[in-house]
Parts: sequence; C-alpha cells; structure tokens
Amino acid sequence: MVKDPLRTKLCDLLGIDYPVIAFTHCKDVAVAVINGGGFAVLGEAMHTPDDIAADIAWIRERVEGRKFGIDLVLPASVPPSGSVDDLEAQIPETQRAFARQIKEKYDVPDPKGSVDLHTWGGLNQELARAQLDVLLDERVPVIASGLGSPVFILDAAHERDMLVFGLVGKARQAKRQLEAGVDAIIAQGYDAAGHTGDVGTFSIVPEVAAMAGDTPVVAAGGVTTGRHLAAALCLGASGVWSGTQWLVSRESDVDMIIKERLLAATVEDTSYSKSISGMTMRVLKCPWTEEWAQPEAPDILPAPYQMLLSADYIQGANDNRREDLMTEAAGQGVGLVTSMKPARQILFDMVEEALDTFEGVVGDLA
Ligand SMILES: Cc1cc2nc3c(=O)[nH]c(=O)nc-3n(C[C@H](O)[C@H](O)[C@H](O)COP(=O)(O)O)c2cc1C
Repeated sequence: MVKDPLRTKLCDLLGIDYPVIAFTHCKDVAVAVINGGGFAVLGEAMHTPDDIAADIAWIRERVEGRKFGIDLVLPASVPPSGSVDDLEAQIPETQRAFARQIKEKYDVPDPKGSVDLHTWGGLNQELARAQLDVLLDERVPVIASGLGSPVFILDAAHERDMLVFGLVGKARQAKRQLEAGVDAIIAQGYDAAGHTGDVGTFSIVPEVAAMAGDTPVVAAGGVTTGRHLAAALCLGASGVWSGTQWLVSRESDVDMIIKERLLAATVEDTSYSKSISGMTMRVLKCPWTEEWAQPEAPDILPAPYQMLLSADYIQGANDNRREDLMTEAAGQGVGLVTSMKPARQILFDMVEEALDTFEGVVGDLA
C-alpha cells in the first residue's frame, strides 16, 4: 500500500486535507482555502485590535469549526512606543530630501487621506502587544509571527490550546525557535514575497528540516505550483506556505491593476530591496525601489523609519491608482502565476499537479 504523500504531519496538526497554507490579507481568500481543505493565515499586522476581533468573528462564522491562523509582526528592534508623528520627526533631512526628489521626478500624487501606518504593529512594541492580546483573548487556533520571534508568547498561547508558528529566514533562527517549542516552523527562502532573508528556499528548507525532529517544517518562498509542493515534501517539509499566488485569485481584493501586473510579471520583475521598510523585502519593481538602488541614493533608514518615509509614495500611488508607480510584495515564483482562478481551484490544481509529479517519478500511487 503506497502512502498518500500529501498526508503529512502538518495535516494532522491542523486537521486539514492538503498541506497547503495560504498567507493572505483577504478574508474571502482565507475562507475559500480553509473550506477547500487547505489552511489559511490572515495577515493582520496593519489592523486595529477591534478590527482584528471583528475579522476573527467573521472567519469563525464561515469555517464551521475548522482551524485558521492570524499573522502579526513582532519585531524586537522597533521602539517600545511612539506615534507616527514622533517617529517621523526623527527622520534625517538627507533622506527626506531624496524622497522629495523622487516625488517631484515622477510626479507622485499625495495620498488621499492620512497614512495607514498608525495601526501597523511593526511601528512600536505597544501596538504589536495590543494586537497580540486580541489573539490570546480570542484563542485564535494559530498565531504566526512574520517578523520577530514569537517565543515570548509560547506559554500564554499553549495555556490556551493555541498553536504558535514562527517564520524564519535563517537556520539559526529556526534552531532557537524549535528549542523554545514552536509548533511549526516556516522556512522561508530568498524567493519569497515580502520581508525575506538571503538564503534560497532550496537551501533553507532541508537545513531546517534536518534539525526539526517531529515539529512540522513548512516551505515558503517561490511556491506557486504543485511541482513546488512535491519538491518541498521531498526536501523534508510537511507542507508549503505561499503568498503571491493568492493575490491574483478571483476572491482577492487586491487592486485589478496589481493583479494584471502580477499576471504579466516575470521572475525579473521583482526587486529585493530595503527601500520600502528598512528591512530586505521582495516587491514588484517600481520607481521608488529603483531610485534607492542608485549609487547616489542616501543610506536606507532602519525600521520603522524607512517605512514612514516610503508611506507617502506607496499610498499616493495606490490611492490614485498610478499604475506606473504602484508596487506590491511579490515572490520570484510570480512568473509561473499566469491566470486568475478561484482560490479553491488554485489549491486543487496544486494538489493534482503534486500528485501527478510524484506519479511521474515513482509510478502509479493508487
Ligand atoms: C502582499 C504580501 C504581503 C505580505 N505580508 C506579510 C506579513 O505581513 N507577514 C508575514 O508573515 N508575511 C508576509 N508576507 C510573506 C508571506 O507570508 C509568505 O512568506 C511569502 O509570500 C512566501 O513567498 P511567495 O510569495 O513566493 O509564496 C507577505 C506576502 C505578500 C505576497
């Protein structure tokens, strides 16, 4: 009897049919993937505690008791407190002047309202803590931390029967989190969208898998097909975690301009840059990322200051739907994302292609 290669310990841990985790900011995508038999983690780092509580209730009403996750950012390096205005006042004139120069050169319009960053958990530790307290009060089944180690919440979460997933870009971070007792570890490679380290997915996944023992390792970074899913399992992962491919799903609330750019993008259209947030991040190339990559650009500021500086450009571009200026986090697998499908179909196609891939290698699995 051949074992079902897609029935992994991640499936057992989460009670899911397929070892596929969607990272998404869109509740409709999350619900579609969860109800299709996969798992979803909703990014809530930009939301107020009240909005997070409302989103949790919204999801709970639609998933019939199935588990789901919420992702926050918990970077230890940001100030303990401070408003957007306090932090903005600390941005040096050199970097301000360069940002103004970009704004003039590309005729970047002003944002239509105030910048969204007032509620970003990455702004200061006080905001992140308030968001975290909602997840603990609500006993969200899975807490994931995209930036920063979640080790300090392990006891509080486990006392409430909640699972904690850590996302890492280096094996040494994985080692610390595994020793502390995280319930699963996401090994995210350089290919990934958003904040990411410099180790490739093909290198970090087996290295983390080798040290993880019984703890499930989830591969992230560039995963956009069933072949990636099959490969990740062969590398020692128990599943995959992906972001880019869900942005173009039918349910996704991402602006159609961005969806079309993602569908048309090739692997060469992403930029690995600190210019958006002060931390290395993979996004669709745009004038902001390219200007900060020029030799005459000043030093990029650390987080959260660079994020405050880029917010005017990002929001000005988005609010005014300026296609030539807009950007979005996107991974190197974007070149393989070529059609807009319902989220559930993306999941099923991945599963089918992964099984076909295994059969292509070892013969009939039935
Ligand atoms: C638009 C977008 C925003 C993201 N924001 C976050 C975030 O707030 N927290 C986080 O843990 N990961 C974030 N990520 C990264 C994903 O969790 C995931 O690791 C990544 O998308 C995997 O690479 P892939 O896009 O190639 O699948 C984001 C990804 C995308 C596409």
